Amino acid sequence: MVLSTADRDGRISSRAVLLKHADERGFVFYTNTASRKGVQLAEHPRASLLFLWKQLRDQVQVRVEGPVEPVTATEADAYFATRPRESQIGAWASDQSRPLRSRAELEARVAEAEQRFRGGPVPRPPHWSGYRVRPERVEFWYGAAFRLHERIQHRFEDGGWRQELLFP
Ligand SMILES: Cc1cc2nc3c(=O)[nH]c(=O)nc-3n(C[C@H](O)[C@H](O)[C@H](O)COP(=O)(O)O)c2cc1C
Repeated sequence: MVLSTADRDGRISSRAVLLKHADERGFVFYTNTASRKGVQLAEHPRASLLFLWKQLRDQVQVRVEGPVEPVTATEADAYFATRPRESQIGAWASDQSRPLRSRAELEARVAEAEQRFRGGPVPRPPHWSGYRVRPERVEFWYGAAFRLHERIQHRFEDGGWRQELLFP
């Protein structure tokens, strides 16, 4: 999914992330909390998600918007533990979004992390966790002939979901 976040001055940035989990509480992804997106979410804890399927039922787009909160340490630990060891090592080695002098620097940091955890389990780094986007607006967009697309918007208001159609 494409995740868009904004800093405190309203400057927006977007990137793809893996939707790891979705349930009635929201949409969860995992990342480095000191990354650019992590810093932006600390400054401005709201996000927009975009899902695009170009080939599904002609075209389908789903948009989600809402406040963002961190997942619990227990949730993050549970998911981190299921990741391949190489990814766990990578999470320690990467200073995500910071300037990297060369690939050699990254490789050296991977080797360092491997050495550090040799023979034992790799704990979750303190800077690696998940965020949950709590939807307050969800829109389903279905492509239709002659641009007469179908748009169904769901808004969470006064404790309940309201549904309405939108002009395409
Ligand atoms: C298909 C795809 C999936 C990705 N999934 C993740 C992810 O789950 N978590 C993550 O931190 N970065 C993921 N990335 C990398 C991000 O797009 C991005 O480069 C990185 O998180 C740094 O973003 P930032 O500098 O805006 O924080 C993914 C990239 C692609 C192309």
